[in-house]
Amino acid sequence: MSMRFQAPRGTFDILPEDQKYWDFVRRKAEEICRLYGYRRIDTPVFEDARLFMRGVGEGTDIVEKEMYVFEDKGGQQLVLRPEGTAPICRAYIEHGMHNLPQPVKLYYFMSIFRYERPQAGRFRQHHQFGVEAIGGMDPALDAEVIEIAWRFFRGLGLKDLALLLNSIGCRNCRPEYVRRLREFYAERLGELCPDCRRRFERAPLRLLDCKDERCIKIGEEAPKSLDYLCGECRGHFEKLVRYLEILNIPFRIEHRLVRGLDYYTKTVFEIQPLSGGAQSALGGGGRYDDLIEELGGRPTPGVGFGAGIERVILNLKKQEVPIPSPSPPEIYIAYIGEEAKERALKLASSLREAGIKVATAWEERSIKGQFRQANSLDVKYTAIIGPEEVEGEVVSLRHMKEGWQRRIPLSQLLERPSEFLK
Ligand code: HAM
Repeated sequence: MSMRFQAPRGTFDILPEDQKYWDFVRRKAEEICRLYGYRRIDTPVFEDARLFMRGVGEGTDIVEKEMYVFEDKGGQQLVLRPEGTAPICRAYIEHGMHNLPQPVKLYYFMSIFRYERPQAGRFRQHHQFGVEAIGGMDPALDAEVIEIAWRFFRGLGLKDLALLLNSIGCRNCRPEYVRRLREFYAERLGELCPDCRRRFERAPLRLLDCKDERCIKIGEEAPKSLDYLCGECRGHFEKLVRYLEILNIPFRIEHRLVRGLDYYTKTVFEIQPLSGGAQSALGGGGRYDDLIEELGGRPTPGVGFGAGIERVILNLKKQEVPIPSPSPPEIYIAYIGEEAKERALKLASSLREAGIKVATAWEERSIKGQFRQANSLDVKYTAIIGPEEVEGEVVSLRHMKEGWQRRIPLSQLLERPSEFLK
């Protein structure tokens, strides 16, 4: 029996016709990072598994259930990266970036792997655009990172977005909050979903973030982290709120926003479409002031965000945002007969040498078939080389829309191509 292969569940191909979305999103992200002075970094697709156990946290869904872990032939436990922040902090430490002027501002595009239940907007391989500003404690840096995210989504032409904001405190004030939260939930354990009953012991904060209707109701009445912040965290949050107001970035304080990774401290935020439910976040991030120390570096604060490109593109399509198309080839070269084909081969090569975008097919087909293809590629001109053109050392240049055609000496087209292809 013959096999028919398919892309693995939860993954998909990005076909040429979809690439214009990816180009558009990438260009916009790069443009914004240039404006803000963030520099590109790339890290390996796989990392030491312990990086994420340490960084993201053993009790998180990502580490507990979703990592693609494997042992390589040398017996090393590796993992396809399930997120980007821990690898970048690893790189910051490894390359001694604390010696650079701080904060170090970095951005990335990367593929991310999570063994999740595939559904709309949730994949097993997805891509993130993200930024990390490492080595700065000032709330103005949080505001800058949030502004980059906001400007990115808005700059793409996305409308009706909500920015959700919260602070989950630091290692000084969070234990008291978590204690209060446990007390609150202890009395309601029976009403919680089975997942939450399990989370109660290991990850009580995450009870707030459950998508189950009943748990959402209960979560709305739960103690709020903002009420338990220490003086430093409170001051940080108030300043951030003030800066966002100055920057004219609308936000909503969401007490149940805690995020799914353990490294966050103080600021957490998410950006969602207004219409969207709980699983629709286009991007999220926050502060991670203990992460670098946790990974073996000297104590260094950081703040960043990651945006899911697939979800961004789904929303660009849903909102019918116009996307610039790549410009078509400038000229198609059609030919009849072997001798003409040799001329066509040479002409195509010379024009490309001169920087002209040329389309060719290189199959024996009728001149009508070649015109049809030229039209489908939306080229402006077709150069036709048949026996007569070969004989006279000319080409017939046809304007595809207007239908006129004229003969020009081959040598002139080669010497001054742009003049003829205006
Ligand atoms: P995250 O919230 O796990 O954060 O992911 C960031 C974004 O990636 C999400 O808001 C969503 O748009 C997208 N995303 C996540 N999982 C999937 C999936 N299975 N399929 C499609 N899209 C997905 C982080 O990963 C943090 N590293 C962000 C960060 C950077 N925090 C600080 N710096």
